[in-house]
Amino acid sequence: MKNSFDVLIDRRGTSCLKYDFGMERKGRDDLLPLWVADMDFRLPDEVIEDLQKRVSHGIFGYTDPKDDYYDALNRWFSKRHGYTVDRQWNIITPGVVYAISMAIRALTKEGDSILIQQPVYYPFASMVKLNNRNVVNNQLVFNKEAGRYEIDFDDLEKKIKEEKVKMVLFCSPHNPVGRVWTREEILRFADICKENDVYIFADEIHADFVYEGHKHISFMTLDDEYREKLIVGTSPSKTFNIAGLQIANIFVPNESVRDALKKENDAAGYSQCNAIGLTATTSVYTKGEQWLDELLRYLKGNVDYVRSFLQEKLPRVKLIEPEGTYLIWLDFSEIVKDHKELEKLIVDKAHLWLDPGIIFGRETALFERINIAAPRATIEKALEQLCAAVIGHK
Ligand SMILES: Cc1ncc(COP(=O)(O)O)c(C=O)c1O
Repeated sequence: MKNSFDVLIDRRGTSCLKYDFGMERKGRDDLLPLWVADMDFRLPDEVIEDLQKRVSHGIFGYTDPKDDYYDALNRWFSKRHGYTVDRQWNIITPGVVYAISMAIRALTKEGDSILIQQPVYYPFASMVKLNNRNVVNNQLVFNKEAGRYEIDFDDLEKKIKEEKVKMVLFCSPHNPVGRVWTREEILRFADICKENDVYIFADEIHADFVYEGHKHISFMTLDDEYREKLIVGTSPSKTFNIAGLQIANIFVPNESVRDALKKENDAAGYSQCNAIGLTATTSVYTKGEQWLDELLRYLKGNVDYVRSFLQEKLPRVKLIEPEGTYLIWLDFSEIVKDHKELEKLIVDKAHLWLDPGIIFGRETALFERINIAAPRATIEKALEQLCAAVIGHK
């Protein structure tokens, strides 16, 4: 039987960042895009009906969340992640990256050191730099035996102390290496930050994308003692692909940290949230669970497909097995010597638009990140194009 996630939907002509900006961003429009973290799937009908109902009301003035919004949030986070949200703790922002920038401004000063763990989602480094703070990198280390990236805790502790780090940006689950951090890792990380009086911004935007055998541990589930300098970024925008509706929920348990963040948010001139985003968030967190469970099974099928394809046809391209997220990290180091050769292979020969490893950090120039949240037919096409390019590559 055909799965609804198999349906190919033409997104061109909707001002879609993923599909409609090839010319502006890559100088050509013949590339199959699997770059930005944006899925090619339609929302469940129940949610679309809620949105249609809201749209047909016809008035879209200023809006703020009411009880139904917080009830929906609490149902979702308690059932899926084991914590409830005190509404006082929540700061709504247009996005998680925006909130990272606000937190950097509110809680650190120009010239302060902020730690990230590359390879990591590139706005982490750019938000630090654009706010005139100093990037300190605690490089993640690939453990060949375990087949996964791990945190170098000795280096983390050393850098925090030596560079007088004020804040860490922690990606959990991790984009792009696909790690779903264990409780032990989260606790060890949190302990080091606590001992050194460091703020943690835990970006948990990918929390809902976790594959069987793994469990997302939210910083919100740790004991009170770990919540003093904690900010947790969440959003339905990845889970339900509603980034265009611009809503993120940022949980800040400590009152003075929260006040500092709110003040920065006020200073930026942001007040009420997007009206359609409000309806969408309430709706997806109320009615989206079954859809998400089906989606997770579908994505797992896509990961399995990519793994078998590579093993069979492109064994020199190494898949870093994802524990979570729909972003797959591929190692091309047996095929190319530098990132320029890799870019030519991917763009000019395979006609694909992926996110090159170099943008996630200098050490991963021979990697590519591929977004597999698309109908299987799209993934098959992309891999066939990649295969033809690699086989023809000298
Ligand atoms: C780790 C991470 N954080 C944040 C974002 C973007 O979030 P927002 O659109 O809410 O700023 C992404 C999108 O890919 C992401 O992967």
